[in-house]
Amino acid sequence: MTAINGLDESFLQGVAGKRVLVRSDLNVPLDGTTITDDGRIRASVPTIEALAAAGARVVVAAHLGRPKGEPDPAYSLAPVAARLGELLGRRVAFATDTVGASAQETVAGLADGDVALLENVRFNAGETSKDDAERGAFADQLAALADVFVSDGFGVVHRKQASVYDVAQRLPHAMGGLVAAEIDVLRRLTVDPARPYVVVLGGSKVSDKLGVIDNLLGKADKLLIGGGMVFTFLKADGLEVGQSLLEEDQLDTVRAYQARAKELGVEIVLPTDIVVADSFGDEASARVVAASAIPAGTLGLDIGPESGKAFAAALADARTVFWNGPMGVFEQPAFADGTRAVAAALTEVDGLSVVGGGDSAAAVRSLGFDESAFGHISTGGGASLEYLEGKELPGITVLED
Ligand code: 3PG
Repeated sequence: MTAINGLDESFLQGVAGKRVLVRSDLNVPLDGTTITDDGRIRASVPTIEALAAAGARVVVAAHLGRPKGEPDPAYSLAPVAARLGELLGRRVAFATDTVGASAQETVAGLADGDVALLENVRFNAGETSKDDAERGAFADQLAALADVFVSDGFGVVHRKQASVYDVAQRLPHAMGGLVAAEIDVLRRLTVDPARPYVVVLGGSKVSDKLGVIDNLLGKADKLLIGGGMVFTFLKADGLEVGQSLLEEDQLDTVRAYQARAKELGVEIVLPTDIVVADSFGDEASARVVAASAIPAGTLGLDIGPESGKAFAAALADARTVFWNGPMGVFEQPAFADGTRAVAAALTEVDGLSVVGGGDSAAAVRSLGFDESAFGHISTGGGASLEYLEGKELPGITVLED
């Protein structure tokens, strides 16, 4: 079967003249109304383009941020509609509500091959409701706008939400090309990965990564730890971490991981030096200290240069790498070198290198790396972690029914 942008040709032949609701993940970082990283919009374009080229009337649904179930201009998708239009090279009609009069008029006004974007689905309480009936009622309204549903928002497939899950139960549905590509890569990380398999984890909290560490300890050969979460590991080793981020309640869990890693022969690599500062974000006071000598009044904001080199060396012979979470506060130049060192090492990997979502993907782009130098940059943060934890993703399982 041939595919166009990941969608079956036979499926595409059937969508001409039909209203196709596409759930994309267009949840991009904004500074006011300026999009600071459009990676997710660009990743969503091929599926939308293929549907439009096949003559569908494409209705895109998406969320932005976490508004409280009612309209909030700070979370409007209007800037995203403009950027999507630029990337598609065509007009994108924007509905100023999700299922109301504007949405209905906008969809009714579409000709074959046209594209519209609905306002933020999370402006409706039904989208994220834990109550099946409330979610279902909103999904009914969404489904009434379309004849077919295409699930292409990989970043939200771990959410049991109306526009991801319930709507697929109400319309003939298909998996979009982006979701298919993401799942394909993640499967290669879990089923028989080429070895050595090295996992790099960063970001602020150990507690966000418990499931993934748990599952990957049995699969990876080495685990490199940086970012804010590393201080809980250093403390668990008996070191003092000053004012650095610390999750006291996770110390025992971390010690248990270390013991299990030893048993399994998995090497956990921690930084030996740290960039500290007197207060959060204070670049002027940034200096490198040994990880075993973090001064009491300081906090760690990046891994140090020696650690950057050691992490790069640990990645040098890897055949499979998964990286999630920056090594430091990469948004500030004084604390960006650790993340830069890991990103640079990933570009040299002779094998599959996967950058898993959210902050690490934004870091790679904002530090000026060429995206094509990486095997795959996932659009899903939480979704890719949950996949690697071995959890069921509701937005995927619903498509299999
Ligand atoms: C993300 O940013 O990871 C996705 O867009 C999901 O967003 P959410 O965590 O607010 O559901």
